[in-house]
Amino acid sequence: MKNFTDRVAAITGAGSGMGRSLAIRLAREGCHLALADRNAASLADTAQLAQAAAPQIVGAPLLITTRVLDVADRAAMVDWAAETAAQHRRVNLVFNNAGVALSSTIEGMDYTDLEWIVGVNFWGVVHGTKAFLPYIKASGAGHIVNTSSVFGLFAQPGMSGYNATKFAVRGFTESLRQELDLMKCGVSATCVHPGGIHTGIAQSSRIAPNMVGFMLENEQQGKDDFEKFFITTADEAARVILDGVRKNKRRVLIGRDARAADWLARTLPAAYQALVVMQARRMKRLAEKRARRAAQIDGRRV
Ligand SMILES: NC(=O)c1ccc[n+]([C@@H]2O[C@H](COP(=O)([O-])OP(=O)(O)OC[C@H]3O[C@@H](n4cnc5c(N)ncnc54)[C@H](O)[C@@H]3O)[C@@H](O)[C@H]2O)c1
Repeated sequence: MKNFTDRVAAITGAGSGMGRSLAIRLAREGCHLALADRNAASLADTAQLAQAAAPQIVGAPLLITTRVLDVADRAAMVDWAAETAAQHRRVNLVFNNAGVALSSTIEGMDYTDLEWIVGVNFWGVVHGTKAFLPYIKASGAGHIVNTSSVFGLFAQPGMSGYNATKFAVRGFTESLRQELDLMKCGVSATCVHPGGIHTGIAQSSRIAPNMVGFMLENEQQGKDDFEKFFITTADEAARVILDGVRKNKRRVLIGRDARAADWLARTLPAAYQALVVMQARRMKRLAEKRARRAAQIDGRRV
């Protein structure tokens, strides 16, 4: 797919971050949009921003539809895909972008948290792919874009739930791409691996209490430290993703951090883990030092 003008794209997680930036960039290119998010207010804001970014073509306004849903809800996703095909009369692209983050040890992990992240990050991608595939195939020219992560390339302590879902998205999407190649049906697929991107994901992440004292000083410091790794803007990430679709890439890496992680995981496929543990030990010592300093300050105040 070399250009997006007059195409129809469905985007999940369109209310914030990369989903919002994809919507704005696609609208700017004259692509009609079906936007979904679980957050109604931020979804409406994105629709407005996208409409404002759309080229002013007299007589052919851009059609932007919205749907509030939870991507983990299979029936809702199937219904949204049918609704999108009916409203827009075709669907060319789906960006299975919605995602959440969880920080927890495996030992202390609550099954509810694990089921939550698997529901959104993995099942959400499966539902979006399966619900939209028949319509995208019927359009004759389309693309499925599934968002994994740099954590779909390498693992880290405290991130097992996120790692499991993002490795799963990678396996699922690479297999999907191979099946589509065999079918020669005009539809392709790309797996996206962003590094740290400036979005709302850190502040909306769940940090389990078991991480405090293990690798983190407290919940907010964990979220703030997570954000220190965000080196690429959401707009730049959206640009790289759309460029990857144009070039029909199998894998899109976003940011120099993602490229470095990819290189490390390929160069030291098992030994990289020892390096990650060394870095995590450093984080743990730092968190402990900060906690001691905070306790001293509190002590002086008392
Ligand atoms: N930001 C990063 O550094 C980074 C790095 C690697 C991968 N990713 C992945 O990129 C994708 C986009 O995340 P982002 O960074 O833009 O985060 P974000 O938090 O800014 O945006 C995510 C959007 O998804 C929506 N959402 C969450 N759960 C949902 C659900 N159950 N149903 C429908 N919508 C839901 C949220 O309301 C939000 O609008 C995610 O899959 C994330 O895992 C992000």
